[in-house]
Amino acid sequence: MRARGNILVTGGCGFIGTAFLHHLFSLEEYGGTVVNVDKLTYAGNPLNVEQLRRDHGGRRYHFYREDITNTPKIMEILEKHQIQTIVHFAAESHVDRSIVAPTSFIETNIMGTFSLLEAAKAVWANDPQGRFHHISTDEVFGSLGAQGVFTEKTPYDPKSPYSASKASSDHLVRAYAHTYGMNTTLSNCSNNYGPWQFPEKLLPLMILNMQHKKPLPVYGDGSNVRDWLYVMDHVKAIDLILTHAKRNTTWNIGGDCERSNLELLSTLIKVYASYTGEAEEPLRDLITFVRDRPGHDFRYAIDHSLLTTEHGWTPQVSLEKGLWETVRWYLENPDWIESIKTGAYKNWIEANYTGR
Ligand code: NAD
Ligand code: TYD
Repeated sequence: MRARGNILVTGGCGFIGTAFLHHLFSLEEYGGTVVNVDKLTYAGNPLNVEQLRRDHGGRRYHFYREDITNTPKIMEILEKHQIQTIVHFAAESHVDRSIVAPTSFIETNIMGTFSLLEAAKAVWANDPQGRFHHISTDEVFGSLGAQGVFTEKTPYDPKSPYSASKASSDHLVRAYAHTYGMNTTLSNCSNNYGPWQFPEKLLPLMILNMQHKKPLPVYGDGSNVRDWLYVMDHVKAIDLILTHAKRNTTWNIGGDCERSNLELLSTLIKVYASYTGEAEEPLRDLITFVRDRPGHDFRYAIDHSLLTTEHGWTPQVSLEKGLWETVRWYLENPDWIESIKTGAYKNWIEANYTGR
């Protein structure tokens, strides 16, 4: 087993980074220092990790409000905290935004990953153990028809500005391993869902719209297929890769849960109605077909058998259970929702996080 050592997490105030931080601090056998570097864009919410700050802040947990493109600052942080593992989540992550305004996707996903690699290369020049794990997406493989699955060997064929920027960052990570001998690993995962996801993404958007009896906007005819992965299953897979995978390897992570958007919505409505005690029919009546996303990828499907065969990982949380937990979390955390709607957490950021 590879020791994790002290860990730098980028994007730890976003959806998956938050889940990963909570997972790390739940591990009895891990006592290292964890540093969270996050620029706090619209998608980064420090309330996600407030409990960690209260319990471990200044001791095992440190937060830096910083842009990953700032190489000198990242180098300083890597050195100061004697980081042995980088887990790189920070990104612009929403496809629709990348279609409307791609610039920040190029800056953060490509230039940001490049800057982070440069910082790690410089600081770890004499330490071949330093591990850089890059989080990527199945969207780099492009769009499937009705048949087929993505394996680790599927050629890259990204279709949106988002997936093209992620593909570019994946290539940079592999190039740094090949050219400079950096110790890297990479994972490509399917669509995550669960607590802390910013409500521009399909599932939280639908849950909140159901709560307020607003239309449930389905792009096109709702036949596009995604493979849904519960976020806590995902972060366990990442940790397994950090501790067990050989250097310079790539891993697919998926939920064994392909659903068309309409099928997914139908299950969500059932779960939501069962949770709240409401009737399903009025919720179904909220479904509204809207103009399709330009260049909308038809289907993604992940084959994660490599991770299963080599390291025994499989997703544990069923769709129904995961959706139940997700609905529960969004309905039980109105303060979190309110902070986003009012932008209140941005003021809170200024009050609490202007200094280090
Ligand atoms: P998110 O949008 O919820 O969070 C991104 C985080 O990165 C935010 O906290 C934001 O403040 C931070 N950030 C953005 N730009 C930054 C910069 N320049 N410097 C420092 N921090 C910055 O994203 P997520 O859904 O948690 O995704 C995490 C990673 O997983 C991303 O790399 C994404 O491409 C990948 N991924 C996500 C999914 C999914 O379903 N959410 C699926 C596949 C892959
Ligand atoms: P999304 O959560 O944006 O993830 P991604 O585009 O990375 O897969 O969207 C998931 C699917 O849901 C995708 O096929 C687009 C669709 N979708 C809708 O139909 N309506 C919506 O309001 C949103 C946000 C997405």
